[in-house]
Amino acid sequence: MLDYNKEADGYDVSRGGEARAEAATRTLLDLIPDTVGRLLDVACGTGIVTRRLAAARPGLRVTGADLTPAMVRRATARLPGAIVRADSRRLPFRGGAFGAVTTVWLLHLLDDADDVRAIVAECARVLRPGGVYITTVDKAAAHDVGSDIDVVLAPRPRRPAADAAGTVTGHATRCGLQPVGRSVFRGAGQGRSPRETIADLHRGWFTMLPPGDPRTEEFAARLARLPDQNRPRPDPTFSVRAYRKPAAG
Ligand SMILES: C[S@@+](CC[C@H](N)C(=O)[O-])C[C@H]1O[C@@H](n2cnc3c(N)ncnc32)[C@H](O)[C@@H]1O
Repeated sequence: MLDYNKEADGYDVSRGGEARAEAATRTLLDLIPDTVGRLLDVACGTGIVTRRLAAARPGLRVTGADLTPAMVRRATARLPGAIVRADSRRLPFRGGAFGAVTTVWLLHLLDDADDVRAIVAECARVLRPGGVYITTVDKAAAHDVGSDIDVVLAPRPRRPAADAAGTVTGHATRCGLQPVGRSVFRGAGQGRSPRETIADLHRGWFTMLPPGDPRTEEFAARLARLPDQNRPRPDPTFSVRAYRKPAAG
């Protein structure tokens, strides 16, 4: 996983900024019933989405949680008093405390399948009966937009996706949650150019292609031969799934 203490400064700008946050927030809100009173945004990062969730509905009380101190500091500046530093594998909240729980761009980061299972179980635990858990799935696949960059990168080594929709749905249903919806949001401004993709390779964003590895340099060289080095290819479209905890009785 990237070191989010180092990512924090440039995080918002490099992940689509407010346009991406706005698109993600709208999609999440469409899946959250108006009657929900408390929402927990797990792995809230800098709070760029969390803040919009909190501002969207006057009756919605939003809490954010994140493990990385530098991300927590930024989120706290946006939402004073509403952010806690916490590990999503062991959430410091009582069972049934929230009407909605969200994980945006968390599950794909996990190396250990047990961590994904534990996080989904924790999100299910802190949901009240009738509450909804909403999460992004299949994050890496979203970046494959069928461009010439994707053709170059197709033979690269890849990890199995920790956030594959089928896997996440399996964990959720084993925790007693029922699939109730799916949606997408556009990664506005996140379409990559060849030049940006080369920079991402050198930053270590492709986990199986570490900076300095000869294979990384080989892919960088092939990307450098593509036309229109500075032209972003199409924006990715990110997938979201919603699961409901059955109402009591
Ligand atoms: C890609 S960022 C997503 C941030 C935010 N949800 C957004 O959409 O902008 C992933 C976040 O997950 C956090 N994170 C990673 N592992 C975590 C864990 N075990 N518990 C809580 N947060 C974690 C990182 O600190 C980082 O802020």
